[in-house]
Amino acid sequence: MATLAEIASQRTSLDEATIDHLLRLTASWSLLADLSFSDMLLMAKVDEPSNRGEESFVVLGQVRPNNRSTLINNDLVGTTQRPDAWPLVRLAFDTGTRVVGELKLDALDDRVPVWCIPVRFDTGIVAVLVRVQGPLRGPASLYEQAYLSIFERLCDMVADATFPYREDDVAGPGMPRVGDGIVLIDGAGHVEFATPNATNALHRLGIYAPAEGRSLDELGLRVRAVERALEFALPAMEEVDQGHDVAILFHCVPLLEHAKTTGVVILLRDVSDLRQLNRLVLNKEAAVREVHHRVKNNLQTISSLLRLQARRSDEVETRTALLEAERRVRSIAVVHEVLSREPGEEVVFDEIVRSLVLLVEDTVLALHPVEIVVNGQLGVLSTDLATPLAVALAELLTNAVEHAFTEFGGPSNEHVGVVTLNLYQEGGNAIAEIRDNGRGLGEDFSLDVPTSLGLSIVRDLIRAQLHGTIEMKSVPHAEGGGTYVRVEVPTTARL
Ligand SMILES: Nc1ncnc2c1ncn2[C@@H]1O[C@H](COP(=O)(O)OP(=O)(O)OP(=O)(O)O)[C@@H](O)[C@H]1O
Ligand SMILES: [Mg+2]
Repeated sequence: MATLAEIASQRTSLDEATIDHLLRLTASWSLLADLSFSDMLLMAKVDEPSNRGEESFVVLGQVRPNNRSTLINNDLVGTTQRPDAWPLVRLAFDTGTRVVGELKLDALDDRVPVWCIPVRFDTGIVAVLVRVQGPLRGPASLYEQAYLSIFERLCDMVADATFPYREDDVAGPGMPRVGDGIVLIDGAGHVEFATPNATNALHRLGIYAPAEGRSLDELGLRVRAVERALEFALPAMEEVDQGHDVAILFHCVPLLEHAKTTGVVILLRDVSDLRQLNRLVLNKEAAVREVHHRVKNNLQTISSLLRLQARRSDEVETRTALLEAERRVRSIAVVHEVLSREPGEEVVFDEIVRSLVLLVEDTVLALHPVEIVVNGQLGVLSTDLATPLAVALAELLTNAVEHAFTEFGGPSNEHVGVVTLNLYQEGGNAIAEIRDNGRGLGEDFSLDVPTSLGLSIVRDLIRAQLHGTIEMKSVPHAEGGGTYVRVEVPTTARL
């Protein structure tokens, strides 16, 4: 569907500033539809070569009331209307004054009351606002009369080019609606009337005195937005809080007559629930962060217990086993550490990689001088994927620094051990390649023969848990030797 700006620039001769004015009008015109309990149409003159000599109108916008049923069921936006079907629109264009009358609509049997309000911008009439009035249910109540009188004042402003406001950037979705409650303030700042919903909102702010005839100041309410609207005729919004639990949004619409402020319409909306929800969401995020923080702390406690126990053990084998377990627990803690900083369904894996490399260097590097180089990155991964992958990579990196260089002797040796970790995403898979320039795998090495714990863990995590693949092979001497491991896991599959 075409937008107002598109229709206007293609079918009319209106310039950009005028179209902008009409856009601002339609951004806040649901207020007009609600105050008048009516459907509204915005019509402009068509300017097309094929149309020469014969004038017709194009519908630029259409809005329905929220508090009454609509009279116009079809979508008229973008349609061309013949002038003889809308003689009153033409009259409003020609005279520049409001034209009130009746009209026969295609969809309806009876004639319906119609108002045609000229929309002025700069010095000319640029469009006509058509109000198609629904039948009033019985005599208008006091509030309906009040709404209609505000509507009339706003219509005069439309014809005077003072509504929509030039500086109104607060209109649009999310702004309070008529049903939320209205307070009308006169030119002297006194409350003329307040609807029942508005009175409720004032109660929630702790104001129980009858509002009529008093200024907000006298009621004990200081709202800068209202003062601003009265003093400078500027629309404004402000949230007024009462304690921790109550928040009422004041949306102030100044009313002007001959460039003088004659009053302010305040639309009130109780946003307490919204604010509370926001607070809850914030609290929940903090709670998730805290949980990760505690999980990390607990894992670190477990790993120190294992380390203590390892120290007490006299048997080398037991001690090694305990230290290995300690390292594994710590590689899981790394993931929670990152999550405690930014909790969520996803995590920046590169931060985890950085910590893992430090961890591996910390644990085993003391034995041989080895350099770990990381190329590329995996970006953001789901947390379900990040934890197992982190543990698997920790095992593989540890293996490389632990086993690859055992035949190269001590630090004095010329050979420099290098372990490279290449990370990238390709075709929906996260890929990690670990390459070392060490001694390579033994003749009889096979990944599928379950022997030691380390590779069993890796196999299980990559294949069974992450539905991925792993490949391990020695690199021929001619190509630099050492071991090459490739891990590939889908990033999208649900785990
Ligand atoms: N990068 C490598 N270079 C040379 N040999 C390797 C490499 N990675 C693994 N190996 C060989 O594969 C064997 C199995 O590794 P695995 O991680 O399963 O056990 P581990 O490291 O000996 O003990 P742990 O259970 O503590 O990890 C190793 O003992 C080693 O001989
Ligand atoms: Mg190992």
